[in-house]
Amino acid sequence: MKKLCVNVDHIATIREARKTNEPDPVHAAVLAELGGADGITIHLREDRRHIQDRDLRLMREIVKTKLNLEMAATGEMAGIALDVKPDQVSLVPEKREEVTTEGGLDVLGQHGYLAGVVKKLQGAGIPVSLFIDPDPRHVKAAKETGAVSIEINTGKYSEAKAERGIVEELEKIKQAAFQAASLGLRVYAGHGLTYKNISSILTVAEVEEFNIGHNIVARASMVGMETAVREMVRVIQSGNRAN
Ligand code: PXP
Repeated sequence: MKKLCVNVDHIATIREARKTNEPDPVHAAVLAELGGADGITIHLREDRRHIQDRDLRLMREIVKTKLNLEMAATGEMAGIALDVKPDQVSLVPEKREEVTTEGGLDVLGQHGYLAGVVKKLQGAGIPVSLFIDPDPRHVKAAKETGAVSIEINTGKYSEAKAERGIVEELEKIKQAAFQAASLGLRVYAGHGLTYKNISSILTVAEVEEFNIGHNIVARASMVGMETAVREMVRVIQSGNRAN
């Protein structure tokens, strides 16, 4: 059964637009779990543009499913993760000027450094996932860091407009998922996924879990978080039944 982790960063984005105390991503996490989420994902960015340290600490207390902390592989973030002990860390590249995460980690270029961060976190009992583009070289390098899982970046697939581009990107995701699972890695996927475009990714057998944020929060702003999550869970479950 494929699972859903809901990224609640953009509830915090609305709060930070006014530097006030609402809406609270911690409340959103509770509602997402009531809606059937299998996990909650938050990205504590270096610039603290949305999620704050307080959110992470409170979520560690209240999240009953799985708390997945997305973070850059910096010394500061590793220290926070070791202190708070989320259920999983997802390492992502981070640039201050980007609107959202723009691509996967350069696992080839930063192999030794990333392997060190993975070792430190997993040595403390925190499983690590690496966010990578669907590229066979990166999948192989990810395995060699010792990380137990990867999250395949579905950003290019989500952005593709023409049928040919969509098919090409989907094929890359399928190949990467197959390769990763053959190497013994657990496989997750995310970025830019929506209620509609997730349908093809649901056919990729090796993908165990999705990380979805913006589209769910957008819908939640209209129908409420619990309903928005329930609807995405239903879409994923229909794919589970079809496969
Ligand atoms: N996975 C990773 C690694 C991300 O950085 C993000 C965005 O925070 C997501 C998944 C979720 O992407 P989206 O908000 O487009 O659903």
